[in-house]
Amino acid sequence: MSDFDDLNAQLWILGAIGRLADQDLFDRAADPDDELSALSQQLLIDTGWLLTDPVRPGPRLLAAPPSGVPTSALSGYVREQLARVSRFAEGAPAGWNELDRDRIRWRGRASGVIAHGIIERCCPDVLLRAENFLDIGTGAGGIVMRLCRMMPALRAVGLEVSPAALDVARLDVEAAGLEDRIEIRDQSVSDLADVEEYDLAWLPQQFVPREELLEALPRVFRSLRPEGALVMALASESDLPNLMAGGGTLSAREAVKLLERAGFRNIQTHDKVVTGRR
Ligand SMILES: C[S@@+](CC[C@H](N)C(=O)[O-])C[C@H]1O[C@@H](n2cnc3c(N)ncnc32)[C@H](O)[C@@H]1O
Repeated sequence: MSDFDDLNAQLWILGAIGRLADQDLFDRAADPDDELSALSQQLLIDTGWLLTDPVRPGPRLLAAPPSGVPTSALSGYVREQLARVSRFAEGAPAGWNELDRDRIRWRGRASGVIAHGIIERCCPDVLLRAENFLDIGTGAGGIVMRLCRMMPALRAVGLEVSPAALDVARLDVEAAGLEDRIEIRDQSVSDLADVEEYDLAWLPQQFVPREELLEALPRVFRSLRPEGALVMALASESDLPNLMAGGGTLSAREAVKLLERAGFRNIQTHDKVVTGRR
């Protein structure tokens, strides 16, 4: 087997993880007549991702999703990654560029859990007293919906520039009955003009092109109420997935400088996150 065949085999392992997660087949043996599922399980057993007697996820599979996300959610992750790699291989420019509604929705649910965990860890005091939340690059609106469901007095604005994501977010916010509390706005953060509106803003830098980020940070600062906080997640490692996400990479040191220049004070760095207060 050549190295290239080996590489290809890895891709099929990833595919098998996605397929079995979708069919809920990490915890029970596939029907032997279902040859594709049975062989997928065998592949994952042979490569150590699944354990046997009874069939169950191995430690590596259990550690695969971000904390708080069940292994069944790996199906969405695998589809998202394969679609991203496929767009990359076809020569797509950097940028999120996801058009598939199911994948946009899946990302929304995953981001909701991840962003909530980061905000709770980095700015618990502001989250507790927040009345108005700004979500930059809201995608499917997963973060605003999760926070508004958990905090009955919270209102939120989600900014988004992708027509496909805006469609999904508006549909889902309405289906959740949250349209009175959540505004999904077709606006780039680089055009944000709100003044002293929000207690808390979430900005995942990895998705926002650099020129837009530079224009955005002083605007986000102005949009915060006194004592309001910005939580900015960072892509600090210069790798292809980060570069293809659209925002390029930004080290914690550079991020601190940008926040200082935009007027923020009490700037703190956490693991791949920087926070600043107005
Ligand atoms: C991976 S998605 C974020 C997922 C989202 N938080 C969710 O819950 O689904 C990143 C989003 O940022 C959006 N984005 C990129 N640049 C932006 C900008 N300048 N202003 C607003 N949104 C932007 C992209 O269109 C993309 O949908």
